[in-house]
Amino acid sequence: VAEVKKIGVFDSGLGGLTVLKTLQRELPGCSFVYLGDTARTPYGSKSGSTVVRYSVECATFLARHDIDLLVVACNTASSVALEEIARVVSCPVIGTIAPAVRECLSHQEREGGLVGILGTRATIQSAAYQRAIHSANPAIALSAQPCPLFVPLVEEGITSGPIVEKIVEFYLRPLREEGVSSLILGCTHYPLLLGPIRDFMGNHIAIVECADAIAREIQSSHDIPLDRGGTSRFFVTDEVSRFNSLASTFLQGALVEAIKVDSLGS
Ligand code: DGL
Repeated sequence: VAEVKKIGVFDSGLGGLTVLKTLQRELPGCSFVYLGDTARTPYGSKSGSTVVRYSVECATFLARHDIDLLVVACNTASSVALEEIARVVSCPVIGTIAPAVRECLSHQEREGGLVGILGTRATIQSAAYQRAIHSANPAIALSAQPCPLFVPLVEEGITSGPIVEKIVEFYLRPLREEGVSSLILGCTHYPLLLGPIRDFMGNHIAIVECADAIAREIQSSHDIPLDRGGTSRFFVTDEVSRFNSLASTFLQGALVEAIKVDSLGS
């Protein structure tokens, strides 16, 4: 089992911080290098070939930081670019889809019922989740819903209140009416809207987040340092001030001083 001390994590913006926060908590001995491609967010409304190009650039940038493992903390990139990413880095790569699907299936086996999938337009159109679930069990009934307004809300720091409630209702009403029993948050931005999503859907459904599933996957397949000495560094492609303040709020007051990179240099 290879030892993992330093982990690269990237997303199109703030969403991957939902993964980073869990990894910092679960793997306190690891150090992290986070890249938010804030100049080019959102990825989810762009074409597959554009997302592949951006994702490969992000992965190449992080690979230069001596990482032992790369976490693609973006479902859009994981849906359409995982193979290309794995081709350009020499370390192991973990995306969001397989861990989240494993988590969802273990709930589904116990409870049964309809599985709802939320994601960006690109993620839902790629059908990566639908394929992964159906290759494990073709009998599972699925209902997939793109929620393109969620990412801009989160990037604006708007995560509660009447605007969010209206938009949550707009996207989720059909799933609630169909009676989904588990719901995959197939976008790493969406856990920031967990409160309003939970309030609308009710406490009886299981909500699957990618972050816990990824942490468990790393713990089970890699050797992790046991001390608590991990550090985190942050890079963004747009100006730092908004990212710093939203990121420190989200990471519960941890001081975030991101460095702006002018070119990811592919
Ligand atoms: N957070 C990302 C995802 O998981 C990307 C959102 C976006 O940039 O559209 O899909």
